[in-house]
Amino acid sequence: MMRDATKHSVCRATRLVSGSRRRFLVWIGAGLAALAIPRPLWSVEDPKASCRETIDVLTMLYHGEVESHRRYEAYKTQALKEGHVNIAHLFAAMSDSESTHAKRFSEILAKLGVQVEAASQDIQVGSTKENLKYATDVELAEIDVNYPKYLARIRDEQHSKAIKYITYSWKAEQQHRELIKDIQSGTGIFFGILAERFRSTKVRYFVCQNCGSTLTALPEEKCPVCTFPVSWYKEIKLPTL
Ligand SMILES: [Fe+2]
Ligand SMILES: [Fe+2]
Repeated sequence: MMRDATKHSVCRATRLVSGSRRRFLVWIGAGLAALAIPRPLWSVEDPKASCRETIDVLTMLYHGEVESHRRYEAYKTQALKEGHVNIAHLFAAMSDSESTHAKRFSEILAKLGVQVEAASQDIQVGSTKENLKYATDVELAEIDVNYPKYLARIRDEQHSKAIKYITYSWKAEQQHRELIKDIQSGTGIFFGILAERFRSTKVRYFVCQNCGSTLTALPEEKCPVCTFPVSWYKEIKLPTL
């Protein structure tokens, strides 16, 4: 279903050695055939070796996205219990977005020959007021500190698809930051008033199922983050307990 799913991204080191390696293998193969040796004796280079940093970063990000998804699901439930349906709706949208990021990272890892599985994690849940504060801190940390570091770590390996989808994820986190900015100030003494105001505001959430972009209105034609058609957006329904 993914538009560029057929494109095969490889790390730069792999591309550089592939031509010379092929010639080398042909030459060795001919030599061995001449010596009537029944099986080749050379060891095949591990393609994972040239993508080591990319694999490490994607694996770490995958687990982080799964954790965020589960955390926002738990926060959504807590918000519903407290009667903050619209805040629960926002958490539901963010949860869906994080789950999309996890999916994309696991797909890229699978193409690199790495299978990842979500581990069980302990999710701490506080009051909605506390959860909003924690969500804000996590989102801000991802945007301002972590993503630039991850991209710098994998830059030299030049795995274009990994770079692209990590950047998409970063952009979606920026959108999350904008979405929670309004209620960030509500984690202070005025939370009750602010939550009440937010409760009466009708908001719709749409999440791109390719890149996790999270918007409150459908874009005109294309996703502003990944440029996939608008049909890739799914509306997140108002959650219920
Ligand atoms: Fe994410
Ligand atoms: Fe998108």
